[in-house]
Amino acid sequence: MINVAFVCLGNICRSPMAELIFKNMVKERGLSSSFRITSFGTSDCEEGNPIYPPAKKTLIMHGIAGNHTAVQLTLKDIKNNDYILVMDGSNLFDVLRITDGGYDEKIFKLCSFTDNVRDVADPWYTRDFERAFYDIEDGCKGFLEFLLKEKAEAFKYDKYN
Ligand code: 4NP
Repeated sequence: MINVAFVCLGNICRSPMAELIFKNMVKERGLSSSFRITSFGTSDCEEGNPIYPPAKKTLIMHGIAGNHTAVQLTLKDIKNNDYILVMDGSNLFDVLRITDGGYDEKIFKLCSFTDNVRDVADPWYTRDFERAFYDIEDGCKGFLEFLLKEKAEAFKYDKYN
């Protein structure tokens, strides 16, 4: 079982988009039972709120359904996951503040798994939800390829191609 937590600031735009995009991606590969996939915000500013409607609409336009309720990230969540995938440098700073610099071997920027390492710009400010979708999808693809290559033993009870 691979435990993956996507993290952004509010947990209403980017990280729940990543959670649902990645869940959909592993489902299409027949790998769902190998994963526990969740998402969190570094801030409590949106705690208890659903996915922001423009983010949800963008997911639906790409054929991805699902819900999420915003939750603030704690040290326990970091301990309980194998991969903490943040959206940008500011999230990384906030997560490292929670860990006091520990657990850095499991904390990555999502788009560091792509050929074009970059931040996922926050659509809360850019209003470009489509751009966020493609950056997140690209990061998720790269992350899954990394796991299939480097962690193949984790999938031995799942069929994949
Ligand atoms: P997210 O976007 O971190 O991608 O969920 C944001 C959502 C809410 C706020 C900022 C960013 N906010 O300031 O309330």
